[in-house]
Amino acid sequence: MEFTTDVFSVFDRKWALLTAGDKDSFNTMTISWGGLGTLWGRPVASVYVRQSRYTHDFLDKNDCFTVSFYPEERRKTLGVLGSRSGRDMDKMHESGLTPAAAGPSMTFAEAECTLVCKKLFRQTLDPANIPGDIVDALYKTDAPHDLYIGEVVDILRA
Ligand SMILES: Cc1cc2nc3c(=O)[nH]c(=O)nc-3n(C[C@H](O)[C@H](O)[C@H](O)COP(=O)(O)O)c2cc1C
Repeated sequence: MEFTTDVFSVFDRKWALLTAGDKDSFNTMTISWGGLGTLWGRPVASVYVRQSRYTHDFLDKNDCFTVSFYPEERRKTLGVLGSRSGRDMDKMHESGLTPAAAGPSMTFAEAECTLVCKKLFRQTLDPANIPGDIVDALYKTDAPHDLYIGEVVDILRA
């Protein structure tokens, strides 16, 4: 299982879709915060999700999630999936992407690469441990993000 990327730009500049749920009920959202590395001797992906996101519900209810990456021509679609909620839009049918099974979870056929992740850890970021300027900028009015760390159990390529 190998994945070669520029870890400092793959989330920040390329963006990704974070998807949780199964074929009968799932949701997806755009993310630009994330990490890849090693924890407890396992390959892991980390994502940071506000509790207000509909996808957050699916992350909590399911054991697995996927992180998927797309070619540049899908950026507009990722912009839509990152600005509208699955509570208000049928993301499965209106996004222009084609849902596809990814192990026990879901991804989209247009993905260049999908990391299939098994949840290992979840914790709400504690503002007491975050620098004050960041708390002021991001967490004055909104609840802090939840960190989810998943073991990468499979890598699917187009
Ligand atoms: C480029 C981009 C990156 C984003 N990154 C994150 C992120 O890392 N974490 C997060 O909680 N929300 C992030 N968002 C916001 C969610 O994608 C957005 O609120 C989305 O509509 C949530 O959808 P949902 O309610 O269907 O889950 C990002 C949005 C965009 C456009």
